Amino acid sequence: MMVAAPAGRALLAAGVLAVAGCAGNGSQSALDTAGSHADRIASLWWVFLWVCAAVYVVVIAALLYGVWRRSGRGEAVVVDPDPASEATRRTVVSTAVGLTIVVVVALTAASYLTDRALATDGADDPSAVRIKLTGHQWWWQVVYDDPVAARQVTTANEIHIPVGRAAIIQLQSSDVIHSFWVPNLNGKQDLIPGRNTNTIRVRPERIGTFRGQCAEFCGAQHANMAMLVHVDSADDFDKWRDGQLASAAEPADDESRRGRDVFLSSSCVLCHTVRGIGAGGRAGPDLTHVASRETLAAATIPNTTGHLAAWIADPQRIKEGVHMPSNGLDPEDLQALLAYLRTLE
Ligand code: CUA
Repeated sequence: MMVAAPAGRALLAAGVLAVAGCAGNGSQSALDTAGSHADRIASLWWVFLWVCAAVYVVVIAALLYGVWRRSGRGEAVVVDPDPASEATRRTVVSTAVGLTIVVVVALTAASYLTDRALATDGADDPSAVRIKLTGHQWWWQVVYDDPVAARQVTTANEIHIPVGRAAIIQLQSSDVIHSFWVPNLNGKQDLIPGRNTNTIRVRPERIGTFRGQCAEFCGAQHANMAMLVHVDSADDFDKWRDGQLASAAEPADDESRRGRDVFLSSSCVLCHTVRGIGAGGRAGPDLTHVASRETLAAATIPNTTGHLAAWIADPQRIKEGVHMPSNGLDPEDLQALLAYLRTLE
């Protein structure tokens, strides 16, 4: 027992440190909440943690007490025939059983109530932003619904939503099952091919950028199927959305113009859309405003000219198995194409 106490303390310390680490400020942390749904889940999590920790401490204390009482007595265990201690034992066991039932029922009720609250939170927000999210191996297509078709916005891998308003995200998949998970904002929900009725809601309460991750194994690059959720102020969101509505900027110099021609005359145009130049490929992300995004390849690499060049030249090297083929562009064409893509803000 002298060994168990320091070991137990070390375990507890490690546990507290781990929890403190999770609770610290972090993108992709379910305990550093930034939305009402995540708040509810985190509260439930803390209730479970402390109740289970208390139960654990009581059980271990009872065990240690039993061992301590027995220590020193060498004889075999015999039931104490004394009726008084028999009655005490009965009381202790009945109390323990009763408390166990109370704890289990209370935790079940807390879980049920949280689930119900999650199911309705944000459902009646008339100002909710509606997004259609489609999972692809291995990227996310994001379409902002609007009653006016011309005001629909299509982008990829980065979602912008306004703070304080609900976002209702309809989930669907074009190939296999994926799962939407932005821990700072809510729990997980699957994107299932052939079933486009799954939705998840988030209601962000804090401006910031939060990382999300596909949470259902979906093939070789499942781990590199991430996304960024930018929670903007109302003004910033409106500005962003208006910017996304615009067609691609007209290239201002010869090199960018040449880059646009490279885009239109090479295999890029078969898979990617750039609105306004007659490029309507649908197999890959919409690139009309690709330069306005922070990352490339579903949050795999930062969106810099160098990374973009490496990605176009040999995507398989960065994301093996990705459906984008390598491009045998000659260096000057690649430079021009890069210059053009950097103008697409
Ligand atoms: Cu998509 Cu895992």
